[in-house]
Amino acid sequence: MQLERIRHAGLHEKVMSAEQASEFIKDGMTVGMSGFTRAGEAKAVPKALAERVKEHPLKINLMTGASLGNDLDKILTESGSLARRMPFQVDTTLRKAINNGDVMFIDQHLSETVEQLRNHQLKLPDIAIIEAVAITEEGHIVPTTSVGNSASFSIFAKQVIVEINTSHKPELEGLHDIYIPSYRPTRTPVPLVKVDDRIGSTAIPIPPEKIAAIVFTSQHDSYSTVGAPDEDTAAIAKHLVTFFENEVAEKRLAPNLGPLQAGIGNIANAVMMGLLDSDFTDLTMYSEVLQDSTFDLIDAGKMTFASGCSVILSERMNSKVFDNLEHYKDKLILRPQEISNHPEIVRRLGIIAINTALEFDIYGNVNSTHVCGTRMMNGIGGSGDFARNANMAIFVTKSIAKDGAISSVVPMASHVDHNEHDVDILVTEQGLADLRGLAPRERAVQIIKHCVHPDYRNQMLDYFERACARGGHTPHLLDEAFSWHINLEKNGTMKLL
Ligand code: COA
Repeated sequence: MQLERIRHAGLHEKVMSAEQASEFIKDGMTVGMSGFTRAGEAKAVPKALAERVKEHPLKINLMTGASLGNDLDKILTESGSLARRMPFQVDTTLRKAINNGDVMFIDQHLSETVEQLRNHQLKLPDIAIIEAVAITEEGHIVPTTSVGNSASFSIFAKQVIVEINTSHKPELEGLHDIYIPSYRPTRTPVPLVKVDDRIGSTAIPIPPEKIAAIVFTSQHDSYSTVGAPDEDTAAIAKHLVTFFENEVAEKRLAPNLGPLQAGIGNIANAVMMGLLDSDFTDLTMYSEVLQDSTFDLIDAGKMTFASGCSVILSERMNSKVFDNLEHYKDKLILRPQEISNHPEIVRRLGIIAINTALEFDIYGNVNSTHVCGTRMMNGIGGSGDFARNANMAIFVTKSIAKDGAISSVVPMASHVDHNEHDVDILVTEQGLADLRGLAPRERAVQIIKHCVHPDYRNQMLDYFERACARGGHTPHLLDEAFSWHINLEKNGTMKLL
């Protein structure tokens, strides 16, 4: 029964246990593994590896598409087997190890990892571990709920371990569109002109002799942990919908807004949910991760097509979608992340990019990654791929965090992932600041008026007015610019005591 999933009969003899397959992984190897936003990661072999290193310690450099589910980053961190990790993660145990300096984390634009591999700027993976629903007659790999970097990892690695996961329905086959750009500088343009274009193959083309091991597993993807919208995220969504309505009325946006991208997490998901209560129809997505909101919008007849590189769903939505794949299949495509996040395509399609900030400053510089400028949260993910090139780069956040001890709007961002030149619109539950065409001093007025929480507004106005008195194109009081963060570290609050 299981062997039916391996349609290349010559590969049947490669089936072995996860423990046996893990023996292919040696000390010092670079491992490229499937997995993106906690979807479609290889599950059995990394777990077996974590067990094996208890007896036989070794260290690997681990590359994935993005974050891993099933606590794998935690398990691998606790086993002590991670020397280096890239390009994204969301795990609290790994986060701690990164911030202690125990694991070297390379926080990278998600479209760039395989491009750097292709150009030998990064060491190629020695081995790839890829979750699949099936292996085709040609020995090609059919991915599961994410494509991420799986195709290029398989192509670049010397050996490939395939984990066939029977918990994923075989009907997933046909959903993927694997297109691999050729080498520079003779590369031709990626021939994708509409979000629903299919330009590649439905499986990862590798020579079957590269497959060193095949492991069967039936462990499910983790469920998404995004929470339901709350009062603040609903308010953020409302401000954005009103703004979009006005942009359409002014003919700056098409009636269906154009392709949308939405980032990971609670806030971006809630913002997309806000579109359910709007009058917009014929919506499309050209995004990286597809969360519950995508399928709620499809079910409501408001979204016609969604292109992404992974699908991560809550328990509520998971069986609804994966038990009814035939209903969604003509409305979905999963692509490699270098195509879903491709800067040239993002600019050409005119994508509206909605991502979440941890904090931003009065001039519009956005910090998405570092708490107080030093402690890594998750990573930049694809937010930079989209924001830098989007038709409109929007960042959302709640105006305060940790019960008001933190203002998400600060005098100077303590780390900058998206600089003022890349940021068009900022939204908190307080309101929306439209920064397009404004000089720094004008941007600050809009941000303070519309985005700052009332508890911090006077404090911010005082800083800005005194900075302006001192002068400059982008006025600052350098001796005070980080005083809010310093106050937080010393006194537990950004509020002036
Ligand atoms: N300082 C410190 N902590 C802050 C903060 C700030 N200025 N603003 C928010 N936080 C904390 C929250 O309190 C919360 O903490 P908790 O987990 O202990 O409750 C945590 O950050 C997450 O915030 P939440 O409000 O739940 O937002 P989210 O789930 O939408 O995540 C990011 C927000 C910024 C962490 C997340 O979107 C991210 O990692 N973004 C960067 C990558 C990215 O944009 N990828 C998408 C590209 S497609």
